[in-house]
Order: sequence, then C-alpha cells, then structure tokens
Amino acid sequence: MADYVGAVDQGTTSTRFMIFDHGGNEVARHQLEHQQILPQAGWVEHNPTEIWERTRAVIETAMRTAGLHASDLAALGITNQRETAVVWDRRTGRPYYNAIVWQDTRTDRIASALDREGKGEVIRRKAGLPPATYFSGGKIQWILENVPGVREAAERGDAIFGNTDTWLLWNLTGGVDGGVHVTDPTNASRTMLMNLETLDWDDELLSFFGVPRQMLPEIRPSSNPDLYGVTRAGGPLGGEVPLAGDLGDQQAATVGQVCFEPGTAKNTYGTGNFLLLNTGTELVRSQHGLLTTVCYQFGSAKPVYALEGSIAVTGSAVQWLRDQLGIISGASQSEALARQVEDNGGVYFVPAFSGLFAPYWRSDARGAIVGLSRYNTNAHLARATLESICYQTKDVVGAMEQDSGVVLDVLRVDGGVTANELCMQMQADILGVPVSRPVVAETTALGAAYAAGLAVGFWKSTDDLKRNWHEDRRWEPTWSDEQRERGYAGWRKAVQRTLDWVD
Ligand code: G3P
Repeated sequence: MADYVGAVDQGTTSTRFMIFDHGGNEVARHQLEHQQILPQAGWVEHNPTEIWERTRAVIETAMRTAGLHASDLAALGITNQRETAVVWDRRTGRPYYNAIVWQDTRTDRIASALDREGKGEVIRRKAGLPPATYFSGGKIQWILENVPGVREAAERGDAIFGNTDTWLLWNLTGGVDGGVHVTDPTNASRTMLMNLETLDWDDELLSFFGVPRQMLPEIRPSSNPDLYGVTRAGGPLGGEVPLAGDLGDQQAATVGQVCFEPGTAKNTYGTGNFLLLNTGTELVRSQHGLLTTVCYQFGSAKPVYALEGSIAVTGSAVQWLRDQLGIISGASQSEALARQVEDNGGVYFVPAFSGLFAPYWRSDARGAIVGLSRYNTNAHLARATLESICYQTKDVVGAMEQDSGVVLDVLRVDGGVTANELCMQMQADILGVPVSRPVVAETTALGAAYAAGLAVGFWKSTDDLKRNWHEDRRWEPTWSDEQRERGYAGWRKAVQRTLDWVD
C-alpha cells in the first residue's frame, strides 16, 4: 500500500516537488529555480524545456533523498503558475517559442482593443475576466501572429497550447510517445477562452483571439478519479504513478488551506499576492474589479467558484530591492532593515511594474515611490515595500467585501512572504483583522496533493483534509482606527499618482 502522495508545484520562479503523508505532513522536497528571460521592457519569458528538465530533476532528487520508489506514491498532483502560455509541436515536443509569462505586458494593444471593439463585455460575462495582458488568450494570439509557421501548424493540429500544467502532464505521460493533452477548469478559466458556465472552450471567445479549437487541451476535473494518465516508467519517477490532480497554483492553495465552505478565503504571498474567496457553486459577478474564476472541480461534483483579487507584484518587489537596487542581500533581510525604523517616514511605494491588477486593472500604470524627504533612508523604503504588500491586499479585501458582503473575521495566509513576521504584523494592523498562518505553509503543493489523493481514495473526503489543518501562528491588529485610516489615505493618494503617470 502506497503511503504517500506527490505534488509538482511549477511556479513563476522555481519548480518544486513535495511528498506528503496521510496527515498532510511534508516528507520530502526539492526545489530548483529557472531563468527569468527579460528580452525587453515589459516582456517576461521562460524556457519550457528548462522547466521540464528542472521538473525531472526535482522529482528524482526528492525521491532519492527520501528513499522512495514510484510504488510508494498513491498518486501525483500538478499545480502551476497560471496563464503562462506554451505552444509546442506535438510531433517533436519542441516549443515554437519561449513560454510567455503571466506578468508579460507585450499584449497590451491586443487587450485594450478588446474593449474598444465591444468584446470586453462578452469576455467579462462569459469568462469572468476583464480584458488584460495577464490572461493566456492574447499571449496565444501573439504567438500565432508573430512566430512563423505556427498558425498553419495550429490549423493542422500539430501546434498545441498549454499552460505549464498541460506541458508537464504531456511530458510526464510520454510526450511525443502518446502524451496526454489535458488541463483542468481552474487553469482553463484563466485563458479568456473558457465559458464559466459550461466549463468548455467557447467558440465566440476563440474567435476573438483567432485560436483554433484543435490546439486547446481537453478540460478534465481538477481531482480526476478517471486519471489524466500515468507517469511513464522511463520518466523521473521510474515507474507508473496515477496522475489524478491538476489545479492552478492559487486554487491549489485554497484547497490546501481547506477553504471548502462558501465564505472562506485565503491569501497567498508569492511573487504576487492572490486572495481567493470560495463562493460555492454560485457564480458571483464582480462589480469591484475582482475576477470570477473556478475554484475547483472534484470528480463529477458541481464546480465550485471563487472571487479572486490578483496582485501582480508583492514578493517580487522585495526581490527588486535585492536585485535592482542592491539595498538588501537576501529577501529575509528586508525585515531586519525595515525594523530599523518605527514607521514608513511618509514614504509610499506602489510597485506597479506590470501595471496594476485588481481592483484597478490598469496595464498602463507604472510604479512610483512618493513622499520622499531628505530624512528618509533605505530602511523607510524597505518598510514601504512591505507595507505595499499589505496595502494592496487591503484594496482587494475591500473590493471582496463589497462584492460578496462577506466580512472577513480572520485572514488565512500562506506563501514565502509569510515567514516575514513584521510584514504579517503590518498586515493585521493595516486590515484590522487577525492574520493566521497554518503549520504547513506550503499549501499550494499540499492542495495539488489533496486533489490527487482524493481522486484515488487516499483521502476519503474533504473532512479528512480539514482535520489536517492546524494553526501555527496568529497576528492580532494593534493599530487604532485613526492610524489605520490615516495610513490608508496616504496609500490611496500614492496609487492615484501611478494611475496619473501615463497620459
Ligand atoms: O496567476 C499567476 C500565479 O498563478 C503565479 O503564482 O506563485 O507562481 O507567482 P506564483
């Protein structure tokens, strides 16, 4: 009897493989970064072949370190950076172009034309998304229009598209030698091409982007008792393991945080921040700049939906302090530096590097540091950077409360930045609600493992999973209402500057 479930988490900056036991405890992990390719301002690419090689390596290393074999794994789940688009040749396995990453803004003309041509409303209604560079549809269109030969190959059925879940599932199940071409509704709901009600590709949406249907993967449930396929004996696991779970990373974290009841929410702090509120089987249309998205579909049960507040730049703003400004040598140093001062010293930093996502959706916005005086130091900038993570979260929490009427009594958090104690205290202060972090902070990989394990009966029900969730740490708000209001008013003024920047 297999005692474990494995999960691949293919993220924006790295790929990791984790192994969990029945209690949802981590047994082993390995993680490798991949190159961020930045050919020009606003462009962000990844090499899909490098991502597949990294995936093989992290699986092999984690399994070897743990002394496990394919037969020890009951199932394997996949979770991934969403929206990032890969188009490859199904006959050779070679990508036609680098993966165009979700942060990439080269499709801003494609996105802004959609509203001008009256297509924006249809996309909002059918796909639950505002037209934006963020989603896959425009990225596929760009590849079809700019890479020689791809359109013809797509018409013939040779050039196929996938997000990185689909790319890995295809490779894990044999690639050119019979690989399956599949995805799940959470990933498909980020393309602008899927109808949220039918959970199928929509011909009208496909026509907006000129995407031939035959290049798209089959949409199968996120937790799939019929299995997407099995891993190949010649692959990194060295044997056959059922591939039974597939979720976009933010939806996976929602599952890992066991947010199964309508009205429960989680906020993940990674490269960006993503706050998801489970709205049950009801589709809630946002009036305040949030996305309507699929939260998960387990087997033949009805799909569960979510409202999402997506923030493009949070953890990556801290990386910017390290890599571009050089004022810290590692992300963890941001906390020590910010602690050198009592407050932000009047400085606000709006890291609108990819424009502003929720709730503004302004791809033309650009970053700003405002409120500077000669008194300010690196420490104020570090503090303003951490605060920007929390203020952006406050913006989306406000939108979520207005859309859903749900007032949060606690915010469940996870992701790398939650190791930053100061930032989490700021989050509680700025929101005015407690912030709670679970023992297993790797909720993304855990959620993918849960989806896979539920499909094969390793876990019997979501109640089994809920028993695995334990709080590790809670931060209570300490600011007065007056302090909170004053701080937020400054933030709003700063955001306005980034919106005014472009004429
Ligand atoms: O929508 C983008 C999101 O899925 C990326 O998440 O954690 O890879 O930055 P992450």
